[in-house]
Amino acid sequence: MLNKSIQEALNKQVKMEAQSSQAYLAMASWAEIQPGLEGVSNFFYQQSDEERMHMLKLVKYINERGGHAVVPALEQPIISFVSIKILFEEYLHHELAVSNSINELVHTALSEKDYATHSFLQWYVTEQIEEEKVARTLNDKLELIGDDRSGLYLFDRDIMNFRSEEKSPQ
Ligand code: FEO
Repeated sequence: MLNKSIQEALNKQVKMEAQSSQAYLAMASWAEIQPGLEGVSNFFYQQSDEERMHMLKLVKYINERGGHAVVPALEQPIISFVSIKILFEEYLHHELAVSNSINELVHTALSEKDYATHSFLQWYVTEQIEEEKVARTLNDKLELIGDDRSGLYLFDRDIMNFRSEEKSPQ
């Protein structure tokens, strides 16, 4: 059975993941109406689905442990961006905030001696290492490309299948 503070902390993370899904959906939608950013749009639609999966995993866990997963109200995410560079900086910024939030949650689980939750959260710790890596890699690529239009064209083409390649077995 989950104690009250763990349940609250896990429900806070449910909101964080739901908010991430919304934020990336807004990024996908913005990119979709820009000329030539089909790959970027596709990437963020996939990211949005991933975040929903992260949220659902938490919802199931809370309920399985005798708690009540609360479906949260969400804030309006950022819906338009000055540039693709700003969009990707926002993405990295968001992932860093999620990592901090997971770390806090792990800390809470340990201090409350909830070892089952601590063990459950290890999946998120590993996932965040990957998520941060992806976000940093893409920001680094954009930094290199600068304002080179043919570079941006290739970036958009390569990112089209970035996630599926990233997640495919070795
Ligand atoms: Fe669910 Fe990208 O953190």
